[in-house]
Amino acid sequence: MQKLTVMSHPLIQHKLSILRADSTSVREFRELCKEISMLMAFEAMSDLPLKETTVQTPVDVAKAHELSKKLSLVVILRAGLIMADAILNLVPTARVGHLGMYRDPDTLQPVEYYKKLPSDIAESEVFLLDPMLATGGSASAGIEVLKASGVNHIRLMCIIAAPEGIKAVHDAHPDVEIIVAAKDSHLNDHGYIVPGLGDAGDRIYGTR
Ligand code: PRP
Ligand code: URA
Repeated sequence: MQKLTVMSHPLIQHKLSILRADSTSVREFRELCKEISMLMAFEAMSDLPLKETTVQTPVDVAKAHELSKKLSLVVILRAGLIMADAILNLVPTARVGHLGMYRDPDTLQPVEYYKKLPSDIAESEVFLLDPMLATGGSASAGIEVLKASGVNHIRLMCIIAAPEGIKAVHDAHPDVEIIVAAKDSHLNDHGYIVPGLGDAGDRIYGTR
């Protein structure tokens, strides 16, 4: 299947340009991450299944619709956290799972340190959230955890991706749709996305 969606909406692209800038402050960076995440989620969720219902208005009974499937947002810590916080404004009933992972700076391999998923995650539509898809190691490890928990429909939402990471995830998990705001040029020798935006976690939390 191997589906990649690059969200080219002008508002997303405009905000992404400011997000990338080295001069953007921590405060602005956080706000932009949230705004981009909401805009991406709004579009990415346009095909969520609905069921018919009715609602009593002050005037009459209206035919209406409600989401028919549970929704889970699964965050890859640290940086994915801010994306879920923003998307919860759109879907306040979503459940949130957390996967603690960091990249070993020498091997670039993901090291898992925490896992807490919603108990009914196997029946959910799942969005796996991480702003950066670099080598793809963290995302692939996250997808494996979700699949081992019985999830069979996963979408991976990242703000910036390297071609190497997209290929790695597609090769390991061809069933997973990848949604990004930008596909960048390549990874540098330290596994950073070029041109990218630097270290997302450090820029969100001011730990640089
Ligand atoms: C960053 C980013 C991803 C990962 C991407 O996290 O948020 O999780 O790197 O790299 P990969 O595709 O090569 O695995 P990092 O490991 O820096 O952890 P942090 O969010 O705690 O800073
Ligand atoms: N993680 C980041 O935060 N940025 C990169 O460029 C690569 C991995």
